Amino acid sequence: MPLPGFVLCNANSVKIGEAFVVEFREDWRRYEIFVMRYGSGFVAYHNECPHSAKPLDWRGSFMTRDKEFIRCAGHGARFRIGDGYCIKGPCIGARLSPIPIAVDAGDVVLI
Ligand code: FES
Repeated sequence: MPLPGFVLCNANSVKIGEAFVVEFREDWRRYEIFVMRYGSGFVAYHNECPHSAKPLDWRGSFMTRDKEFIRCAGHGARFRIGDGYCIKGPCIGARLSPIPIAVDAGDVVLI
């Protein structure tokens, strides 16, 4: 995991209704963070479903069709964008792991 201050992306790279994925690799291990717009700000989560610890997306798609929720491609769990709380599916009541971020000079950075 990179240190605070690490730039994940430029804020303009995060499109409305989409996720911007940042992948980190060390040896055989892979760790992904995805950033989304939420209200006038941004949220970021570890790309791992609390149901079975697998990535949430299917080929980069993280959202329900209506763009209202984060959707796990594994078994269809639905998560609120703002707090990562699961409102439907096999892990109802669980949460995505939030990544603390801020916007600094137009960049989304770890804090
Ligand atoms: S792996 Fe996400 S709902 Fe099962």
